[in-house]
Amino acid sequence: MSSRADELAEVKRACRLDGGEGPRHVAIIMDGNGRWARRRGLARTAGHNRGVEVVRRIVASALDIGLCYLTLYSFSSENWSRPREEVGGLLELLRRFSETDVSRLQSRGVRIRVIGERADLRKDILELIEDAERRTCGNSAMTLVIAFNYGARDEIAAAMRRIGKAITAGTLAPEEITPDMVSRSLYAADIPDPDLVIRTGGEQRLSNFLLWQSAYSELVFADTHWPDFDKAHFMAAIAEFMRRDRRFGGVSRMVAESAALQTSVVANRIE
Ligand code: IPE
Ligand code: IPE
Ligand code: MG
Repeated sequence: MSSRADELAEVKRACRLDGGEGPRHVAIIMDGNGRWARRRGLARTAGHNRGVEVVRRIVASALDIGLCYLTLYSFSSENWSRPREEVGGLLELLRRFSETDVSRLQSRGVRIRVIGERADLRKDILELIEDAERRTCGNSAMTLVIAFNYGARDEIAAAMRRIGKAITAGTLAPEEITPDMVSRSLYAADIPDPDLVIRTGGEQRLSNFLLWQSAYSELVFADTHWPDFDKAHFMAAIAEFMRRDRRFGGVSRMVAESAALQTSVVANRIE
């Protein structure tokens, strides 16, 4: 078994390799804030407050290992059904995060993107989102994607509406619809699919997160609640990803390499 330091070094090396075995894009379902708080006899909002600290830590770790894209699921389209005070608390946290953290992220070269439905958002929240995106749009150290008021089914339905309108306008034929076109019609067409989706908090479901984009993502479920998730947990999830064999419906690289070897042996014999 390798030590934590070895594991971290290996993760750093792999993530910095362009197209290497490390993930370029990690997406996280940050779950377990409420249960973390309840266990301590605290209000759920205390778990969310602590969760923001962890966001700061994990963003720093992602920068440290040279990750290209980090997506964080911060508020789902279904989370509006929570008690009014909790929703208010979460919106307030978003506001405080935008006010206090965007400058720091800006100075570290982080580009911020927000995915989710914006149509019915409060004007002040919308302004914060647009401001964060505008201020950081020239950065290239890492892209931090915040999924806010996000639901994958809404996202796919919106893409279908856009495509449907093009058909009605006569600029697109139904036969021209391809998976690639659907991908390009989603909220962030320029962000590659996540290689790895991590969910903290012990539940093993996607909860309407990146359903289209995660078709071939590796899934890692961590039992740790988000407020307790730290750099070591993050590195362990990435190390787990690196042990996986991504086949994309094909055969593993080792099998493919040995098949290629056999083919060349047979070809040599025939010659
Ligand atoms: C995740 O933690 C944060 C948000 C959904 C905003 P939860 O609030 O869902 O925590 P649990 O799952 O109830 O413990
Ligand atoms: C998913 O967690 C949403 C976020 C982490 C923002 P939920 O706590 O809302 O998901 P369910 O209700 O357990 O499926
Ligand atoms: Mg939850």
